[in-house]
Amino acid sequence: MFVVYFSRKRENSTIGPIKANAELEELAVPKPKISWRQNYSHLRFTSVSSIIEDLIARKVFNNRGEETIEVDVITSGGFGRAAAPAGKSRGKAEVIYYPQGGVDAAVKKVDDLIAPELAGLNADFQEEIDSTLHELDGTTDFKNIGGNTAFVISLANAEAAANSHGLLLFQFLGGNAATTLPYPLGNCISGGAHARGKAPSIQEYLALPHGAETFLEAQIANTQIHRKIGDTLKKKSTNFNGGKSDEGAWIANIDTEEAFEVIAKACEEVGNGLDFECGFGIDVASSSFWKQKEEKYVYENEGVKRDTAEQLEYMLSLIEKYHLAYVEDPFHEEDYESFAELTRKAKNCLICGDDLFTTNSERLNNGIKINAGNAIIIKVNQIGTLSDAAQTIETAQRNGYDPVVSHRSGDTCDWHIAHLAVAYKCPVIKTGVVEGARIAKLNELIRIEHFLGNRAKMADLKIR
Ligand code: PGA
Ligand code: ZN
Repeated sequence: MFVVYFSRKRENSTIGPIKANAELEELAVPKPKISWRQNYSHLRFTSVSSIIEDLIARKVFNNRGEETIEVDVITSGGFGRAAAPAGKSRGKAEVIYYPQGGVDAAVKKVDDLIAPELAGLNADFQEEIDSTLHELDGTTDFKNIGGNTAFVISLANAEAAANSHGLLLFQFLGGNAATTLPYPLGNCISGGAHARGKAPSIQEYLALPHGAETFLEAQIANTQIHRKIGDTLKKKSTNFNGGKSDEGAWIANIDTEEAFEVIAKACEEVGNGLDFECGFGIDVASSSFWKQKEEKYVYENEGVKRDTAEQLEYMLSLIEKYHLAYVEDPFHEEDYESFAELTRKAKNCLICGDDLFTTNSERLNNGIKINAGNAIIIKVNQIGTLSDAAQTIETAQRNGYDPVVSHRSGDTCDWHIAHLAVAYKCPVIKTGVVEGARIAKLNELIRIEHFLGNRAKMADLKIR
């Protein structure tokens, strides 16, 4: 079949009607480029339908009502779309989200600078697309084009390539061997930077139903745990009004210790009812309450301060008392040594770095040298591109770190991380339990599990 696509007209653009499946000579390429010529030699291994025809950027909104960027990548025979998330408790080493001028400036950069450069390249070559983004930016932290701009182009490109080949994203990135589903790590109680008023200093209390045999069962367990916690909080206090954070976790006037009791009981009861083990864990997000001047972790709501040694003891006591399956960022983002000490001493628990590593393979390598943890949060927009994140995942897996692919607190109904978890065999996905932006990802995993049928299996998780 002969299909003709018309791209949006852009000033100075030579992009006109593009003919898919036509002779290469007939393709209207904006200008000859080295990279196009390099791709030309590979074309018999790929598909003419993957040639990028145009990029369209727009301003949309995340679940906090904040402006964010969305990009469509249109190839001769396919289409991909991605929207960017935003963190609230960001690591210092993350890339910069937007150029000066915010989302509007980022959209303009896509229109004026990036789209003309990428048009004509082959979406199949993800690394080339991503290195072009680095070149166009010219800095180490995506200050010029914006890390979120790079993120949306990179993800939309991967989806467009998959779509051009008639494949789903996880199939395109992971091949036939991509058949394992991650365990959902679901936020049930919010504190710290994600809450308001009197709430626990620890940022997240997360259910992890690691005994479930299927993803669907695991998500059923998480929804039951979340609901039970809501019921308990209502019984505990007449002040509880059912408030939830951006991630859909409950916000309540309880202290750090009470929150542990509530989630521990809910996990136990739901586990008994479903006949498999429901563990839980925490994201301490301790950089947000580490006071460098005092060299103490200040648990404001509890009126307690802990120095590094006391924080280590406290974390170990929590792991032991509540059999925690997962502890994220127990120490501030520069304290690799304490991460290593906790990893040495803790038993059957994932010790995970988020702000510590910021999905950055160099920072991960610093950790690997001294065994600072055994798991790493993967948030692609911390580093900017899919290729960079994939490199970090590979480094993690080669060195025995479990990659935990994650949403951000400010997120959209974009579901790409569901596919990344399956494609890259991440044993855990951290994406809340309820709330639209979380459900978009969780339901996509249910669809993937359904699609895989009896080839689907749950990931091999260390703590199981
Ligand atoms: P975020 O934090 O608000 O930066 O997304 C979530 C987290 O710390 O895991
Ligand atoms: Zn975190």
